[in-house]
Amino acid sequence: MKNYKLAVVGATGVVGQKMIDVLLEKNLPISEYCFFASSRSAGKTIRFGDDVYLVKELTESSFDEDFDFALFSAGGETSLKYSPIAVKHGCIVIDNSSAFRMDETVPLVVPEVNPDEIFNHNGIIANPNCSTIQAVCALKPLDDTFGIKRIVYSTYQAVSGAGSKGIHDLENGIKKFNDESFEYSLEKFEYPIFNNCLPHIDVFLDNGYSKEEEKMINETRKILGKSNLAITATTVRVPVFNSHCESINVEFENGFELNDVMTVLNSAPGVIVVDDIKNNAYAIPTEVTGHNEVFVSRIRRDFSVANGINLWVVADNIRKGAATNAVQILEKLMNT
Ligand SMILES: NC(=O)c1ccc[n+]([C@@H]2O[C@H](COP(=O)([O-])OP(=O)(O)OC[C@H]3O[C@@H](n4cnc5c(N)ncnc54)[C@H](OP(=O)(O)O)[C@@H]3O)[C@@H](O)[C@H]2O)c1
Repeated sequence: MKNYKLAVVGATGVVGQKMIDVLLEKNLPISEYCFFASSRSAGKTIRFGDDVYLVKELTESSFDEDFDFALFSAGGETSLKYSPIAVKHGCIVIDNSSAFRMDETVPLVVPEVNPDEIFNHNGIIANPNCSTIQAVCALKPLDDTFGIKRIVYSTYQAVSGAGSKGIHDLENGIKKFNDESFEYSLEKFEYPIFNNCLPHIDVFLDNGYSKEEEKMINETRKILGKSNLAITATTVRVPVFNSHCESINVEFENGFELNDVMTVLNSAPGVIVVDDIKNNAYAIPTEVTGHNEVFVSRIRRDFSVANGINLWVVADNIRKGAATNAVQILEKLMNT
């Protein structure tokens, strides 16, 4: 078996650090690692199992070394600048940013949903947005069986989805709550996130939607292969450290039995159904954090339309929504 050489770009970030955990758990056939970040973190150390690595500054010559694969999670601008350089050197890039997701020549992949797309790449494979990944894991098998006509997304997204600055804003808000004299400046959000809900993720667009809402709509259409599917979304940041929750209302083309919906979701890859309201059993962020699967609860008929259901979908946004999904793609590439 070949032993590969892997670059992790953005290795000091929230997603990059979780990639390291997932890589250690998966024990893939990788013989050499290199961890990159900006000049701010160059020279810091990263622990990888029993080994300690120095973080290197990402530069235009970083890919002069021959890497087989690179996992990028250092923001869109970094991906736009450095991914083509990596590809030119024969490296396959799995990119966590939004830079290439809607590029028609770049596959947008969730391994449980559209695994064959992985191999239609020209050097770059895009990881979808965290909120899209968990939604499509539940929706794809339902679409295959019942035909989805319309989706209404309402999200409750954790601060870790906004990176380390988002986490700091919630931590500092809690410190302020406990000590009125504590002073801090917001690093990420427009308003304090502690004790709040902010209907504002990423920038606002001229059409009144936020970019996060637009990402969910466009990426869902691309992954399900339905370019005209009726979808609307409201995305909200909530004061939860980790794991995104989503209320998803779905209308099907055809009639259905609720039991059949349960059966489909129970056999969906990477999906765990937790739905026993008599015993108050449903997915919540504190229980889901640390898991790689997508959890589906509160599965019930929407009595306001002919063929509708409501779902509550929760996943660890840093694992399945980012690091796990990217490393699963890497694993599939290595297994071919
Ligand atoms: N958090 C999520 O749930 C999530 C989910 C899906 C996708 N993503 C995407 O993943 C990316 C990273 O997110 P994050 O949450 O990990 O953010 P983060 O915690 O802010 O980390 C950002 C990382 O990027 C590095 N970086 C920034 N500018 C760089 C540059 N010019 N050259 C090299 N490295 C640079 C940082 O290095 P320094 O230590 O040197 O600053 C750090 O390692 C973003 O594109 C984000 O949209 C995040």
